[in-house]
Amino acid sequence: MASVKVTGLNKRFGDTHVLKGVSVEVPDGAFAVLVGPSGCGKSTLLRLLAGLEEADEGHIFLGDRDVTRLEPRERDIAMVFQSYALYPHLTVRENLAFGLKLRKTPAAEIDKRLGEASEMLGLGPLLDRYPKALSGGQRQRVAMGRAIVRRAQLFLFDEPLSNLDAALRAQVRVDIRKLHDRLGATSVYVTHDQVEAMTLADVLFVLNKGVVEQAGPPLEIYAHPRTKFVAGFLGSPAMNFLEARLEQRDGQWMAALGRDARGVQVALDAEAFGEELQAGRRVMLGVRPHDVELSQDGSGAALEVSIVEALGVESLAYGTLAGAHFVARLEPTAKVGKGETVRILFRHVHLFDADTGLSLRAPAKKA
Ligand SMILES: Nc1ncnc2c1ncn2[C@@H]1O[C@H](COP(=O)(O)OP(=O)(O)OP(=O)(O)O)[C@@H](O)[C@H]1O
Ligand SMILES: [Mg+2]
Repeated sequence: MASVKVTGLNKRFGDTHVLKGVSVEVPDGAFAVLVGPSGCGKSTLLRLLAGLEEADEGHIFLGDRDVTRLEPRERDIAMVFQSYALYPHLTVRENLAFGLKLRKTPAAEIDKRLGEASEMLGLGPLLDRYPKALSGGQRQRVAMGRAIVRRAQLFLFDEPLSNLDAALRAQVRVDIRKLHDRLGATSVYVTHDQVEAMTLADVLFVLNKGVVEQAGPPLEIYAHPRTKFVAGFLGSPAMNFLEARLEQRDGQWMAALGRDARGVQVALDAEAFGEELQAGRRVMLGVRPHDVELSQDGSGAALEVSIVEALGVESLAYGTLAGAHFVARLEPTAKVGKGETVRILFRHVHLFDADTGLSLRAPAKKA
């Protein structure tokens, strides 16, 4: 197994600058997830790692080997694509063995690796079937098996679950993580699904327009998003954003909501934001749907509810607050109906500069 280190990677297709100075470090044995919206450059980065595309600038290291200019087969990498790309005229067994035979692996060794992989993935009963006689989830497992028998240094996954239905996706997601823990292989996994990203990653890289906007453990990024983009991308339903202006009243910092300051004031924890608090500064106030509660005494901001989704475990109230769309996650027992106006309190807020989108949160104090 090997660590991955990417430094200053640039890739252009004609006039399109797809990767703009991307640097990424994945420790040996870690499960890294690249997440970002469609077109942000995830697959391109993965294809560069695999050697299927060539970098314009920058370096790729596997362990301490500089593989930037090596051919794919010299890199010792296994890749699982979204389309499983199984050979339709070969059985599962033959599909698994195909790459090994090409590399002239001895028959006894092929048998041994096939046995291990099929045991790990539960492929035993399927070995003599053809791909057309497999379900989507089973094909997915065969594609993974093909990667496993390679015993590669690095596993790359490009949206391997996107052809599966929701229930199967959840199951295979757990299987992939278990498999990773068992193999201990360094993995880089691409998805635009933030649930997959949050649940699978040891280390998460949020990509936006060819730039890594934030990297780190998923829960840390979720709790302390560095930009408005990252804040809005991770979390479902997404974070609410409200235009606001910073003010200080009697020593207390406040965010006055709405373009025309409709009178709703949100008290701020000065310590959390430090010197970023400047009177008159225009900001975006971010509130996650679950960081709110119904006010009992008429204080708080008015939410005009237009629709309520009762999901059993929670109820989501959608509506308008200070002139913006707003989603509040409420207790399932909350008696709120559409057309009503309720008062909402914010338990925790994020602040972003209105122009740059950068978080105003003071850097964590060094211990
Ligand atoms: N071979 C190519 N030639 C020209 N442009 C390309 C090529 N490959 C990718 N692109 C462009 O590069 C950008 C990034 O593409 P990429 O496939 O890396 O996105 P992605 O993040 O994987 O998106 P998705 O989630 O939709 O798979 C897109 O604008 C795409 O059109
Ligand atoms: Mg892609």
